Amino acid sequence: MSKRRTSIAIVGMQWGDEGKGKVIDLLSEEACHIARAQGGNNAGHTLVVGGKEFRFHLIPSGILYPHTKCYIGGGTVIDPSSLLEEIEALEGHGILHAKRLHISLYAHIVFPYHRLIDQLSEKQKGNEAVGTTGKGIGPCYTDKINRCGIRFADLLQDAVLKEKVRVAVAQKNQVLERDYRHAPLDWESIYREYSAYAKRLAPFAAPVEELLFSALKKGEKILFEGAQGALLDITFGTYPFVTSSCTLSGGISAGFGFGPSKIDETLGVTKAYTTRVGNGPLPTELSPEELTAFPDHTAAREIGTTTGRKRRIGWFDAFLMRHTICLNGADSLALMKLDILDELDEIKICTGYKQCKTFPATIDELSRVVPVYEKLPGWKTSTRNVTVYDDLPPLAKAYIRRIEELCELPVSIISVGPEREKTLWLDRFFCE
Ligand code: GDP
Ligand code: IMO
Ligand code: MG
Repeated sequence: MSKRRTSIAIVGMQWGDEGKGKVIDLLSEEACHIARAQGGNNAGHTLVVGGKEFRFHLIPSGILYPHTKCYIGGGTVIDPSSLLEEIEALEGHGILHAKRLHISLYAHIVFPYHRLIDQLSEKQKGNEAVGTTGKGIGPCYTDKINRCGIRFADLLQDAVLKEKVRVAVAQKNQVLERDYRHAPLDWESIYREYSAYAKRLAPFAAPVEELLFSALKKGEKILFEGAQGALLDITFGTYPFVTSSCTLSGGISAGFGFGPSKIDETLGVTKAYTTRVGNGPLPTELSPEELTAFPDHTAAREIGTTTGRKRRIGWFDAFLMRHTICLNGADSLALMKLDILDELDEIKICTGYKQCKTFPATIDELSRVVPVYEKLPGWKTSTRNVTVYDDLPPLAKAYIRRIEELCELPVSIISVGPEREKTLWLDRFFCE
């Protein structure tokens, strides 16, 4: 089923952490440009390459191939201290220099008051907390929408930065004192800190929207790296237990400034089961007994990359997937972490929710749904060393085929381990 594509969007189909980083890294071998359109350092994408583990939060996961150029788009929110940590780690490995990473002037900047308000407001919500990463993402997007945010372009003009920080901190101090009885922040020290970040980040500033459009015109291959997952989307996710940006394929166009008709294909990344980190309903969540039979969190690599929290685990939910396939217009699926199911006696797939024709729009309804399961026998054989689809155990093939049937979409990539090599290709994305 190979066909020629110039630009491919890669998006998470569940609640994030599906393995997007690994898929981006894989496809980057043949891509020239890798672009991130939205979100911030709430994302955590882990790659295992040459026995080493790399964790990216904002820098696209395609950066490890020396031939690629990477872009951080206008729809993102950038915490400069965190981004500089990533940049410096890569510079230390000799991987990164200013000609390989380009940052949009339109991106918004995360300030210490965003992080503080995120954390204080979560604490104040108590049991109702969203379970955010505490990185200030929501408050930064709030300022963007409220038209009082500070953008990368502002950061780079010192006088503008100074005035904007003075005004913003005065306003935030009112909020901190009134809503949280928190001591005021000192705007001058924040300005000085950010002025220093500006000097470090200035060489990365670029008209990324134009750069990518001219790459497109030359027929150069482009990958868009999704962050988070469809059910964390600010509009269509499990609101209010969501992030503050558009995590769907449509968010890529709006977040990068790239016309939707120029994206050739959407690859949806899903685990062979489901996970969620943070609060909110997870209909297929494993019972305590089922969890005991499942590989533990460390073995399954189900400890959050950004916050170190244990991820909640559930069975594969085909009803949810049909919904997120619709929201994303996904063309095929990358099915990740099949190996984690290797030892199970029995595997469940959720085919629907009792008495639900469509995916519930409210948390109240979603918390009360009763999943309908189909039970499939486990294959009880390691898939870790399988390199081609035909060599998979027949019961593993049956599981994959059932997922395809229920999702009404082909699986194009199967992943059986965190490393690059542990991948079975059913489609070569950038080939003729
Ligand atoms: P992302 O946010 O979607 O990029 O996913 P994360 O990196 O946050 O989480 C996925 C975790 O699973 C990481 O630790 C990956 O190294 C790991 N991983 C990815 N694919 C596989 C796989 O097929 N098998 C196993 N065992 N681990 C995988
Ligand atoms: P990647 O790209 C998993 C979740 C948080 C919380 C909610 C809101 O690695 O898949 P925020 O800090 O964004 O305001 O938190 O969203 N969340 C993620 N969960 N993977 C992510 O990114 C996430 N980014 C945000 O846990 O429930
Ligand atoms: Mg992640």
